[in-house]
Amino acid sequence: MPPIVLILNGPNLNLLGTREPGVYGHETLADIANLCAQTASEEGLNIEFRQTNHEGELLDWIHGARQRCGAIVINPAAWTHTSVAIRDALVASELPVIEVHLSNVHSREAFRHHSFVSGIAQAVLCGFGSNGYRMALQHLSQQLKG
Ligand code: DQA
Repeated sequence: MPPIVLILNGPNLNLLGTREPGVYGHETLADIANLCAQTASEEGLNIEFRQTNHEGELLDWIHGARQRCGAIVINPAAWTHTSVAIRDALVASELPVIEVHLSNVHSREAFRHHSFVSGIAQAVLCGFGSNGYRMALQHLSQQLKG
């Protein structure tokens, strides 16, 4: 069985498509899920794609990944800039983590320039839109099959 890559999405990302299209584009989260599924089938990976607006639920998913998954791709959305708990859970998972943002957070408001996750992530992709998810999966495919 190919390893499972858990793809996690934080708050408000369920609104993609209608939320600030000038910043995030017109693609919906379902479009991104489809892109990930297509990439996973090309790369021979198993994926699980999830989104939540509840931080505790995200923490539970990260905890559950430890024994079950090979890596985590995460767009923590606004929790990127606020959550020590998500950072600690990712460290506890002992899994490789790739942080993804649709927008280039560094060209936006100053409060988006700091990420609690980047310091423990293997890699950070931001500003590539949905292609960032695809690039993360392509990289993990090479790494996990290594
Ligand atoms: C985001 C950037 C965050 O600053 C913001 O809070 C989001 C989305 C992105 O994908 O560009 O909700 O993570």
